[in-house]
Amino acid sequence: MEQNDRFITSTKNLTDAEIENSLRPTSFDEYIGQEKVKESLSVYIKAAKSRKESLDHVLLYGPPGLGKTTLSHIIANELGSQFKVTSGPAIEHAADLAAILTNLNQNDVLFIDEIHRLNKTVEEILYPAMEDFALDFIVGKGPSARNMRLKIKPFTLIGATTRAGMLTNPLRDRFGVICRLELYNTDELAIIINRSASILGVNIDNDAAIEIAKRSRGTPRIANRLLKRVRDYAQVIGQGKVTKDLANKTLQIMEIDELGLDTIDRKILNSIISKFGGGPVGLDTLAATISEDATTIEDVYEPYLLQLGFISRTPRGRVALEPAYKHFNLPYDKSNV
Ligand SMILES: Nc1ncnc2c1ncn2[C@@H]1O[C@H](COP(=O)(O)OP(=O)(O)OP(=O)(O)O)[C@@H](O)[C@H]1O
Ligand SMILES: [Mg+2]
Repeated sequence: MEQNDRFITSTKNLTDAEIENSLRPTSFDEYIGQEKVKESLSVYIKAAKSRKESLDHVLLYGPPGLGKTTLSHIIANELGSQFKVTSGPAIEHAADLAAILTNLNQNDVLFIDEIHRLNKTVEEILYPAMEDFALDFIVGKGPSARNMRLKIKPFTLIGATTRAGMLTNPLRDRFGVICRLELYNTDELAIIINRSASILGVNIDNDAAIEIAKRSRGTPRIANRLLKRVRDYAQVIGQGKVTKDLANKTLQIMEIDELGLDTIDRKILNSIISKFGGGPVGLDTLAATISEDATTIEDVYEPYLLQLGFISRTPRGRVALEPAYKHFNLPYDKSNV
């Protein structure tokens, strides 16, 4: 997919995987931002621990790269529980999931990434497992068929998804705690960048950290990735120190503008504005016009454009708003909207 080759993408690529592990916070103290989510989770964790019970099932949702996987690890750490990882598309058969569930120890954390991609028969195994810590089987065939119930140990399911809307109701209803992760503000991202810089041994000015933060689209993964590129430039052309000037130069070379918008964002906005008179334009039409995948536009690009107030989602389609026109120095005609 073209999107994976792109620099600004918030979805994970291979080089990220190696470095992400070293940069991944391991406790709530190191996990910057998301204060509301952290606060409520720490209360629930303390309560579960003091009752020596498993934590309620947790659903984490939000755009890629905001820290869902990281937070899941932290929850298991704070609980002092074992952490088992799998993902929606990786579980093909109901029996695979049944095997995972029966092998869990008391109060373990089972993390299912991309939980919206579980297939129906697999998902049905989860209902009694989440609700009653049990697996239901049908034994035998025809009139002699009987229901069998097998108890499993109490556990906590943490589901992560970029698309909460694609979860079925029965599954969503079985999560006691539902947390939406928000895009990060510039200050939070600057703290994350400074923290990562110190782990990677990068010498960086606070001004430079803020500059990179502003262009990170509210996303820690992008912030870390930009930091790594800027570090490369610093080594080659800047005597090793990352200054604001050097950060700016690097980001300009990478065609990332002062808001963190790249060529695809510009294509999306330009096409709504120029080709569709500011909208409304349906997502699929927009996707076809710029040859991008509709889901990618919706999950990866739009959250940030929405946060900037550059577009809005209306029942009739996407509309470009005044700040977008301003950003491109285009005249805004209210009568369009
Ligand atoms: N709150 C945070 N504080 C510091 N660093 C963070 C925070 N959240 C995320 N990161 C950094 O961003 C990287 C990406 O986070 P993570 O892999 O948890 O995102 P994700 O939401 O699971 O993404 P995806 O949807 O692609 O699975 C992590 O390696 C971590 O270094
Ligand atoms: Mg993840």
